[in-house]
Order: sequence, then structure tokens, then C-alpha cells
Amino acid sequence: MSNPSILILPGDGIGPEVMAEVRRIIDWFGAKRDLAFDVSEDLVGGAAYDVHGTPLHDDTMKKAFEADAVLLGAVGGPKYDVLDFSVKPERGLLRLRKELDLFSNLRPAQCFDALADFSSLKRDVVAGLDIMIVRELTSGIYFGEPRGIIEEGNERVGINTQRYTESEIDRVARSAFELAMRRGKKLCSMEKANVMESGILWREVVTKVGEEYPEVELSHMYADAGAMQLCRWPKQFDVIVTDNLFGDLLSDAAAMLTGSLGMLPSASLGAPRDNGRPYALYEPVHGSAPDIAGQGKANPIACVLSFAMALRYSFDQGAEADRLEEAVNTVLANGARTADLLGEEGVTPLSTSEMGTKILEALDASL
Ligand code: IPM
Ligand code: MG
Repeated sequence: MSNPSILILPGDGIGPEVMAEVRRIIDWFGAKRDLAFDVSEDLVGGAAYDVHGTPLHDDTMKKAFEADAVLLGAVGGPKYDVLDFSVKPERGLLRLRKELDLFSNLRPAQCFDALADFSSLKRDVVAGLDIMIVRELTSGIYFGEPRGIIEEGNERVGINTQRYTESEIDRVARSAFELAMRRGKKLCSMEKANVMESGILWREVVTKVGEEYPEVELSHMYADAGAMQLCRWPKQFDVIVTDNLFGDLLSDAAAMLTGSLGMLPSASLGAPRDNGRPYALYEPVHGSAPDIAGQGKANPIACVLSFAMALRYSFDQGAEADRLEEAVNTVLANGARTADLLGEEGVTPLSTSEMGTKILEALDASL
């Protein structure tokens, strides 16, 4: 049998630097755990635009369909701000999400104990935090029609449309309930049913799906109140399910609870294929961070943890995912810090590759 395949799309900014560390870790699993992957690499975002004049070449899209999992670094940068909307780096990422139909975006916000003091919130509010935001990723206002900027009378009008079908809500709700079953059996659904019809339908459909999961305690919150509760007492949540735009906002807020955006991974999952593996893309939640790109300062942990999610959700290697997450926990507990995690006295920052080496050492020690 051939090895499972991974398509790596490092992208822009710090993407290539953090991805280089992930490649070392992928190689480690091949050498030390008899878990070899066929890894190929291609371009996405501005890097693809520079070569092909498009942020995602059709050949790359085809490779993404064929790969068992896609691992993406980051897209975008100031150099590309002037580009037409249709070829901006972000369009490459959005095309991947849409065409692979990756409707369920898992964004965990976990606070590593060693980092609880990095949060802008008090230690006891965030220590031990472990929540999962499930963001709908292929519909809603990101993709709804009509959209555009049109002329009306003597001025222009910007239009985007929030649109959700029952089946779109149903499938993402189901994935959130399934996750809740494997975690703390609590699900909070967030929308704005007080002002949006799409929110009313969202609440109805989620409630109906919930009847099939009587063990899961389901609650509903308006998304604005949800944002407030996330800052007030985030540990009240286990799994949160929400739409594309609210999920974008709430997941950034939740990420910052944990101290640094440089820590958080994500998985975007679609329907299962014939071999049981879902279409899947894994990426750090942080962006391309152009201000520090190319300097070896970036924190590779979010990208490394994204690979851990790939082990768990694409390759059915939960124990190896635990091993990798535990290695990250160990290096942080031992005081390893990249530049985004400074503030404690007497700590010199590690470079991106030094952090990678520490994680590899912790992996070795785990054997
Ligand atoms: C994210 C990002 C993207 C989004 C951008 C880069 C298109 O903010 O993944 O959260 O808005 O979905
Ligand atoms: Mg975002």
C-alpha cells in the first residue's frame, strides 16, 4: 500500500519558515514511528500569483483534490494589496475551501499552562482553557449572491448576502454535535436570530439536529453576547458552532485568550471520501505576519499543531497526535519561547528552527 499523501502549500510571509519546521517533524514520524508520508509541495497565495498570475493554479487545485490532506502556511502580504480583488492571495485560500467543500472548520482554543500569564485576561480565567469553535466555512456572507459594488443613482453601493440553506446548517451542526460527543458533551450555537432571518433558521435547524443527540447539552446565544461571554468566562464553553463570518471574528477573539495567535492550529474538513478520509486542509490560524517574515522569528507551533490535527482527523493517528501535542506542551513547560512569547525575565527568544529542534528533541524523549 502506498503512503498517505500530504500536499504542502507554504504560501506567503512566515508560511515557508514555519512549514520548514513541520517538514522536519513529518520526517521524524517517518523515521521514528514508521509513519511515512508522500509529501509534495506547491504554491498558493501571493507566491502563486508571482509565478502564475493567479493565487491558485488549476494544477494545484487538482493536486489538492488528490492529496489525502493539504497543509497550508499562510497567504497574503502588503505587496499584494494593490491587486484586483479576484486575484488577491486570499482568493486562493477561499477557492480551496469552497471547491474542496470544507464546510466544517475546527478552531481549538487551548491554553497551555506555561502560557497562562501571556493572556490579556487573568490567569484563573484562562488556565486550563480547552474549547473548540466549529465555524461554517463554505457559505454565508463570504460566498452569498448577490454581491459586488454597484451604481445606484449617483453613488455606489457595496453588497454582500448572508445566505444559508437548511442542509448547509444541518451538516455543520452535525459535525459539531459529533465533536461534542467526543468531548465535554456541551454545544453552544451562536447566531443573531434577534435580527437576522438566517439566524432564525440556523437556530431551528441546530435545535432539530440536537434531537438526535440527547446526551449533548445544547444552548443558544446571540453572537454578540457570545463574544462578551468568551471574554468574561470562556471556560463555560466546550464546543461552539457558528456561521462563517461570526466564526471568523469569534475565533480570533478566542485565540487571543490563549496568549498568542502563534499557537493555534485549525482543521477544515469536508465530506469523507471512499477511503473514509475526509477532504481536509490544515492551517495555522495566524496570518502571514509580513512584519517579521524572513527573519526566523516566527513561532512554528501553530503550524506544528495543525499537523497534529492532520494526524488525528485525516490519518486516524490519535495517539501520535497526542504525542506531538505533548511534545509541544513539554518544550513550553521547559521555558522554550519564540519572540511572540516574551515578557518573562531573562528569557532569550528562540528562532523558528531552534523551536523546531526543541520539539524534535521532546519527540525523541517521548520514545
Ligand atoms: C481566517 C482568515 C481568512 C478568513 C482570510 C485570510 C480570508 O481571516 O482564516 O480566519 O477571513 O476566513
Ligand atoms: Mg480570520
